[in-house]
This record gives sequence, structure tokens and C-alpha cells, in this order.
Amino acid sequence: MRNPFIYAEPVDGENFADRKRELEELKTEMLSGQNVIIYSPRRFGKSSLVHNTLLELGDKVIPLWIDCYRVLTKKELAEKIASEAIKNWKTRDILESVKKLFRTVTPKISLGENVEVEFSIGEEERAFEESLKLPQRLAEHSKKRVVVVFDEFQEIAELGNQVLKKMRSEFQWHKEVTYVFIGSKQSMMEKIFRSAQSPFYNFGRHLILKKIPLEEFREFIMEKFHSTGISLKDEIADRILELTDGHPYYTQKFCHELWYLGKLKGTLTLNDVDEAFSKLVVESDASYIEIWDSLPLSQKKVLLAIARGEKDLYSTNFLARYEFRSPSPVQYSVGALREKELVHRINGVYEISDPFMRYWLVWRFGGG
Ligand SMILES: Nc1ncnc2c1ncn2[C@@H]1O[C@H](COP(=O)(O)OP(=O)(O)O)[C@@H](O)[C@H]1O
Ligand SMILES: [Mg+2]
Repeated sequence: MRNPFIYAEPVDGENFADRKRELEELKTEMLSGQNVIIYSPRRFGKSSLVHNTLLELGDKVIPLWIDCYRVLTKKELAEKIASEAIKNWKTRDILESVKKLFRTVTPKISLGENVEVEFSIGEEERAFEESLKLPQRLAEHSKKRVVVVFDEFQEIAELGNQVLKKMRSEFQWHKEVTYVFIGSKQSMMEKIFRSAQSPFYNFGRHLILKKIPLEEFREFIMEKFHSTGISLKDEIADRILELTDGHPYYTQKFCHELWYLGKLKGTLTLNDVDEAFSKLVVESDASYIEIWDSLPLSQKKVLLAIARGEKDLYSTNFLARYEFRSPSPVQYSVGALREKELVHRINGVYEISDPFMRYWLVWRFGGG
């Protein structure tokens, strides 16, 4: 029997909990051509949400999925967009059509299970410009709306403002294409989409993805255990969610481990849950120590304070207790910790991103 808790990849269908409102909204936006910008800390379920929306839309739209995480150059970006577009080009003689599709460049195309387009060194600028036109041309060719998803879009910003400028000035003419931009680094995403100097300023509606509502997540967890023959009380699921703070990824990861234990015993008790949690925290000791050791003192102090649930990191009292002379090193440290994705902010409060690490910090250094 397969473990019903999945955490190594985006989840879909019956492995995807709730998010009904977001799904409906996104479907409407995609069909109507409203561009959307989605962000949340890493592993909250952005890719899963968009992936599920596209699944539900079925053949009403043609999806092009661009995973920017693996894009290091403009040429690679062009190749990704072109490969995705050509993969969806329905025609009798694909090679012949592709030749006509590119006017100033001659890419190498390999057709197999995966369509792969390769441009030559030296032609990347023209290749990039031509590739950017493909989504709209695909929509015209297929007479269907195209949805282009840029996953982890903040990586593209690293390629420079010129790249963003070119993309924006091309995309704004694409009337039959909806663009969805997913990002994990809020500050970067805000710079790209909210700052008036940025080419992508006001390019779409913003959607900040929160955690899955506890009620729904609890139901999901209970159903997965029950349907695989493990009996447990509601309070067990509550305890799991309390320990993982309802974090979508860490909750699934923890449940994945618990499931094996549940299979052995046929049930799970509060004690089982607590023991398994402590075991996981302790097992991660070496890797947390490595992270801890890599941090400068001021970041260590701020990280620990957040783990201890410190709310006002700028109060005089806080500064005195943690021996900061002014608020500015605190501010700098918070920024650095966010950049490293060790902490994130939701609903105006900072949290340790990894709930296991939060417990580890308190376990190692005390609750303050
Ligand atoms: N709606 C959901 N229902 C159940 N689990 C989810 C859901 N969304 C995310 N997860 C869990 O979180 C993990 C990370 O999701 P993913 O979509 O890859 O996040 P992101 O794109 O925000 O980094 C998934 O593998 C799954 O374990
Ligand atoms: Mg993702």
C-alpha cells in the first residue's frame, strides 16, 4: 500500500487538500485573461495550487509551465519557453511548421518524449525575442487561451532588468494569454511587481497564499489515515498540526513518517506523535548545527528570539535583553534570515520556516 502522505513533489487530485476558494478564483482569472502574481514562503503549496487549477481546467486552456529555478541564462529561458510552446503545437508536420515559426534563428529541435529546442550561442538575444512571442502565436494557432506559468519567477529577476523589460513589453500585447507568476521570496516579488520603477509594475492581481485552514487540513489528515486502515482520534490530528504549525509541507512530511508507525500498530496515540516528533528533531541535530554555525552572532540571536515567540523585535526591552545597541542590526538580521529562507512573515508575524527547527532551537538553547 502506498503511503498517502506526499511531500517530495507538488500534490494533486485527492492528495491536494482544500484551497477551494483559491482554485475557483484562479480558474476564473485564467479563463478571463487576468494575470496573477502568487507568493508565499517556499513549500506552502503554490505550485500545487496552480497545477491543480490547470488540471481542473483541462483542455479549456493550453498550459505552458516554465520552471525558472533551473534557468541560469537568457538562452535557457528562451529554450524553455520555446520547448513548452512547440510541445503544444498541433500540426501534421511539426518540423516544417517550426521552421516557419522562427524568422531570424534556426534552432535545433529534438522530438521525443520531451520536445527540446536548442538555440546556438551568439543568437540568444534574437532567440529570446522570438520565443517571447510564441505564447500568443500558439493561442492564435490553436484558437485556445494559453496560460503561461513562471514558477519561482524571482530567479528570472537575477538575469537583469533588461530581461524583465523585454518580457513585459512583449507580454502586454498578448491578448489571448494569461500569465501567472509564482514566487517564494516575497521581497523580490514585491520589488518586481509593486515598485513603480519595475517593468512589471501592476502587471496583475496579487494573491498571497496562506497556510491551509486548520479545519480542512485536519479533515484531510484524518481521512488519509482512516482510509488506509489506521484509526486515530481527532485530537491526534490536532496535535500533529500544533507541532508542525499547520505548515503544508512539514505536516505532510511528519504524517508520512507517522503513517509507517501507524501501519505497524494499527493506531496512533498522543505519545506516539510526541515521540516521533522529538526523534525527528533530534535526528536533524547535525544539520541544524551546521546552519547555526554558519550564522553571525546577531542572526543567531534574532533566529532564537523568533523561535521563542518574541513578537516585538524592536522594543527597547528586546534590544536590551539581546544586547543590541540599536534596531538597525536587528532589521538587517531579519532581512538576512528571510533571504536564507530560515524565517518568513505571515499575518505580520515572523516565524521559523521549519517548525522542527523551531523546536530544535528551543530544545538546544532554552525557551528564554
Ligand atoms: N493543498 C495541499 N494539500 C495537501 N498538501 C499540500 C497542499 N499544498 C502543499 N502541500 C504539501 O506541501 C508540499 C509543497 O508544495 P508545493 O506546491 O511544492 O509548494 P511551493 O510551490 O509553495 O513551494 C507538497 O509536496 C505537499 O506535501
Ligand atoms: Mg513550487
